[in-house]
Amino acid sequence: MTIRSVILGCGGYLPERVVGNQELAERLDTSDDWISQRTGIRQRHIAADGQLTSDLAVIAAQRAIEHAGIGVDEIDLVVVATATPDNTFPATATRVQARLGMKRGAAFDVQAVCSGFIYGLSVADNFIKAGQAKTVLVIGAETFSRILDWEDRQTCVLFGDGAGAVVLRAEDTQSQGILSTHIHSDGTLYDLLYVDGGPSSTGTAGHLRMEGKEVFRHAVHRLSEVVVEALAAHQLTPRDIDWLVPHQANLRIIEGVGRKLALPAERVVVTVDRHANTSAASIPLALAEAVHDGRIKRGEMILLEALGGGLTWGAALIRW
Ligand code: UT7
Repeated sequence: MTIRSVILGCGGYLPERVVGNQELAERLDTSDDWISQRTGIRQRHIAADGQLTSDLAVIAAQRAIEHAGIGVDEIDLVVVATATPDNTFPATATRVQARLGMKRGAAFDVQAVCSGFIYGLSVADNFIKAGQAKTVLVIGAETFSRILDWEDRQTCVLFGDGAGAVVLRAEDTQSQGILSTHIHSDGTLYDLLYVDGGPSSTGTAGHLRMEGKEVFRHAVHRLSEVVVEALAAHQLTPRDIDWLVPHQANLRIIEGVGRKLALPAERVVVTVDRHANTSAASIPLALAEAVHDGRIKRGEMILLEALGGGLTWGAALIRW
């Protein structure tokens, strides 16, 4: 018997308000040209006042549940990957659990910033393989607009808000599902990408700070490494990959990994132009888009990869 986590359904949600580069250029010393040439970003979605991470997460989750064709009473576990929880505690996942109308199961958050969805998927997959859960909802949801320093042009132009979700189900199958997840961190690089606040340090939420160039350098190196590690674990070659669904931080990083795998550009799912960097939400949002528009089909091999604050990074291989 081979128990695998099969993705039954996926969904995404973006807040209504769209902010283009030009709007930012009107109030900051930046330009549409700089932002689009250095990052590939043209616009981002920003949550409305009072619209919380859990609000985005609930809509994405409802769409994933509907796509999966299951009832909420079947869900054993809710994992929310977020670095922008509604409150310091309880976990945003518990609010999502309640709002979905779940009367049983467990719910908790996972915090690995932009690698959060891969970490959450890894945790969920291990719960399923250990037999501790049968049906798991994994959500990546963020409102990074709330922790940006809107006067810091080096960071505020890069991020957006959004949420994406998948429903995993334990199935006895060799032909489908998550083949493996690979997660890593290097805490000595904590200061390259962090928030300068928190309940134990300043008592305030703080703002995101990043050494962009250094993070970029580590991203190219670590993502290439983890992609090789994931393929080697299954004696696969880049030619076996049908789709790369990367974390969406910078088009230049995405294209760098695509080139490493010698994947044609049309086999790489890109949303960074329209969503910007939505941290833990970026992969499930990109996945939902490519599944719902018919690009990703059952039986195809998907590679996910991400790097974020910590530094943390990881990859997952999935037979869709
Ligand atoms: O998701 C988590 C992981 N995060 C990432 O993967 C992000 C990785 N880093 C990056 O994507 C890139 O490093 C950035 C997009 C953040 C920056 O691009 P870069 O090519 O590394 O630019 P830079 O930081 O070296 O800045 C180049 C110049 C500087 O001016 P000088 O010193 O050359 O005069 C910056 O001050 O661009 C300037 N600059 C800007 N100019 C206009 C920085 N931000 C802006 C801006 N508009 N928004």
